[in-house]
Amino acid sequence: MLFKRKTKREIDLTRLPNHVGVIMDGNGRWAKRRGLPRSAGHSAGAESLKKIITEANNMGIKYITVYAFSTENWKRPKEEVDYLMNLLLGYLQNAERDLAGENVQIRVIGSRAELSEEIQEQIIKTENFTSKNDGIVMNIALNYGAREEIVRAAKKLAADAQSGKTAPDTITAEDFENALYTAGQPDVDLLIRTSGEQRLSNFMLWQVSYAEMWFTDKLWPDFTPADFRQAIHDFQNRGRRFGGI
Ligand code: FPP
Repeated sequence: MLFKRKTKREIDLTRLPNHVGVIMDGNGRWAKRRGLPRSAGHSAGAESLKKIITEANNMGIKYITVYAFSTENWKRPKEEVDYLMNLLLGYLQNAERDLAGENVQIRVIGSRAELSEEIQEQIIKTENFTSKNDGIVMNIALNYGAREEIVRAAKKLAADAQSGKTAPDTITAEDFENALYTAGQPDVDLLIRTSGEQRLSNFMLWQVSYAEMWFTDKLWPDFTPADFRQAIHDFQNRGRRFGGI
């Protein structure tokens, strides 16, 4: 089945990536170019995100993970951190209304203990409210860092070994995966990063092991559903060998 809209790009709906990761970069530069505060870039970025989720869901993609706030983003000025946290809170609060009828299941990955109680409670509410939805699973990476995720998984497995629940030499890659925030989800097979930067920035280091990387110079608030379709189209034209020939 082929999916065609606006652009001439054809997408084979039988060969979609299982899981798309998105590093939504460039909000600050987008705002600066317009003489606006960085916060305006983040708001525009949140709008951009809604359109991309709708597009991905309509296309039939099953999992998408978006990098909303990294474990390193606390280093930003307090004013910007507060703005981002409020934006995220609002996004979670309004998800019920904004995503009505879209059947999106929201999950939040990352370390929650450092988040405000209000956000922690809202995360639980939004996750519960959307848990029965069987459309796209949207992981929002919030206070997320892949190294923290990996260390956390290692600690869990070490605790299981210490308590005798498991023997260290029987631990498999699958056991490790099951201790990650993304337990039970497929690997990321397409990673999109906007704004011209070409690095991973501590994003899903385990899960992107075999991902195709797709970069664009466009800044995140300018990234459109047509750009997303282009990324999927390009993904479908890459030869993936997973170490074979
Ligand atoms: C990177 O751009 C973007 C972020 C650190 C935040 C991402 C957040 C959003 C897109 C909006 C909120 C998300 C949700 C889920 C509601 P940057 O600020 O590093 O841009 P710059 O590199 O141009 O300064």
